[in-house]
Amino acid sequence: MVVGGTGSGKTELAAYLTRGCSRLIVIDTNKVLGGLVGAQLVHDPEEVTFRSRQVWQPPPGLPTKVLLEMVDRLCQRGMEVGDFMGFIDELASVSTSQTIPPWLAAWLRQGRAHRIGMIYCTQRDVGASNPEFFAQAQHLYVGHSTKMSLETLRKRVDHVDRATTLGYASGRFLFYENMQPPPRLVGPVPLGSIRRAA
Ligand SMILES: Nc1ncnc2c1ncn2[C@@H]1O[C@H](COP(=O)(O)OP(=O)(O)OP(=O)(O)O)[C@@H](O)[C@H]1O
Ligand SMILES: [Mg+2]
Repeated sequence: MVVGGTGSGKTELAAYLTRGCSRLIVIDTNKVLGGLVGAQLVHDPEEVTFRSRQVWQPPPGLPTKVLLEMVDRLCQRGMEVGDFMGFIDELASVSTSQTIPPWLAAWLRQGRAHRIGMIYCTQRDVGASNPEFFAQAQHLYVGHSTKMSLETLRKRVDHVDRATTLGYASGRFLFYENMQPPPRLVGPVPLGSIRRAA
């Protein structure tokens, strides 16, 4: 799970971490990853195969209820296929603090048994995000400029294997291995996993 304020580099980090995934489905409701390196852009959910690198952007103008049903159906098909990585660029657009599409919740709870990995990003603080996402996270990346206090986060995520802070130094985003000071620097996140429009 990647948490951080807007512009803290969540999308860039997630694109970088999934750069080697040959079976990747990006749920890109914000429509920022259409140029993801090595990925095909699709709009029709039936075109999603879970067997190659694909970015799914929903057709424009869908009411929220219809969009969430579409995501739910997509996740149901994914569960049947298994063995891929799911990347959700903005959790708040596919769930609310009360409800998660049932098959997305199934990815969270039983995905590992189906070899479904997930990386998901959110700007929202702990209270506003669905606690299920925190409860299931194994790794947490915390971006700078998040409003959430690290103390609150530590209480929420004390089960995670590794928690990480994203700092910003010298114009580069860095990530650290541990939230407890002193953080160990793992490395900069290089740009280039998201192909930018010219
Ligand atoms: N590793 C990096 N090194 C240098 N600049 C970066 C890096 N990652 C991101 N940036 C810059 O910061 C900007 C914001 O990054 P990104 O879109 O990943 O943030 P975000 O947290 O996903 O924001 P939002 O919440 O608005 O989606 C990028 O357009 C890019 O210019
Ligand atoms: Mg983003």
